Amino acid sequence: MKIVVDGETKIMKAIWYEDDNVKLIDQRKLPDKFEIFTAETSDDIAYAIKNMVVRGAPAIGITAAYGLAMAKKKNEDMDAASEKILNTRPTAYDLFRAVSYMKNNGYEMNAARRYAIEITGRSKKIGEIGNELIKDGGNILTHCNAGALAVIDWGTALAPMRIAHDAGKNIFVYVDETRPRLQGAKLTAWELGQEGIDHAIIADNAAGYYMKKKSIDLVIVGADRIASNGDFANKIGTYEKAVLAKVNGIPFYVAAPGSTFDFSIDTGDKIPIEERDENEVLEINGSRIGPAGSHGKNPAFDVTPHEYVTGFITEYGMFRPEELGKLKTLMEKDLFMNVK
Ligand code: MRU
Repeated sequence: MKIVVDGETKIMKAIWYEDDNVKLIDQRKLPDKFEIFTAETSDDIAYAIKNMVVRGAPAIGITAAYGLAMAKKKNEDMDAASEKILNTRPTAYDLFRAVSYMKNNGYEMNAARRYAIEITGRSKKIGEIGNELIKDGGNILTHCNAGALAVIDWGTALAPMRIAHDAGKNIFVYVDETRPRLQGAKLTAWELGQEGIDHAIIADNAAGYYMKKKSIDLVIVGADRIASNGDFANKIGTYEKAVLAKVNGIPFYVAAPGSTFDFSIDTGDKIPIEERDENEVLEINGSRIGPAGSHGKNPAFDVTPHEYVTGFITEYGMFRPEELGKLKTLMEKDLFMNVK
């Protein structure tokens, strides 16, 4: 991804391996500070995932892959390291796929590198396929951050926007702020700004207003886990946007690599939903917004039923929910995806 640091434009990845450690752009500090977090042990990797130094389903998977390879190189107890990393966050399926991939490849560094290269390449492919949906002058709404920070590069939902922009299309992006952790306002707006893509941050509650005004042509979001029938989990608030899009006749797309599809479950009610600390809701940037004594409730994700999805943008092509059987067959033939 393109990043302007101290006035200098750099092409960077969100996660990389260097000097026997895993390096992560610290997403907790953006957009105000650009800092690199160094993970030296599997404890550091588990901390980074749990505390959202790195977040976004594919990025969590890639961090786990590099983290396990690093732990192996440093002669850690690999069962303990895997267990620790698996117990960080329950919803993003990429985490579980990456850990089983690494286990089946002896936790080798080459396997981690391969995992990262594969997922990144597939995100670019999602961008190329999704670009077909975006017309010149198109207005797109997105929720949370499914950008390069949430993969390593390109992103999932943001990849078609990057490709469309690079192809010279004049696009405008409505960016949901995405309470409570503001991944939209802090990370998506930052990425789009770095790329020079026109956008505006909106209150989460304003999406319906712009949809009804016909200001939005399509919605593209990411996903954390997708069930066999097409029900999918994504950042809390996605379900509302899907319902509003349907009511207003606006196409609603989900961009995700094969690593996010969990064909071991048939419907979305089987997807575990992470509950996070109430203070993420009760505070903004560390200042309390609620009166003392009031508690908060903080489900991190919700599940959108498949009937609200126009299509899934994947590296294998576009699929309507009822066509996911075809995707499953393609993934079964795909050596990289088929390492159980
Ligand atoms: O809690 P987060 O920030 O990890 O949630 C991230 C999302 O919901 C993303 O939309 C999803 O993981 C897709 S990232 C390509």
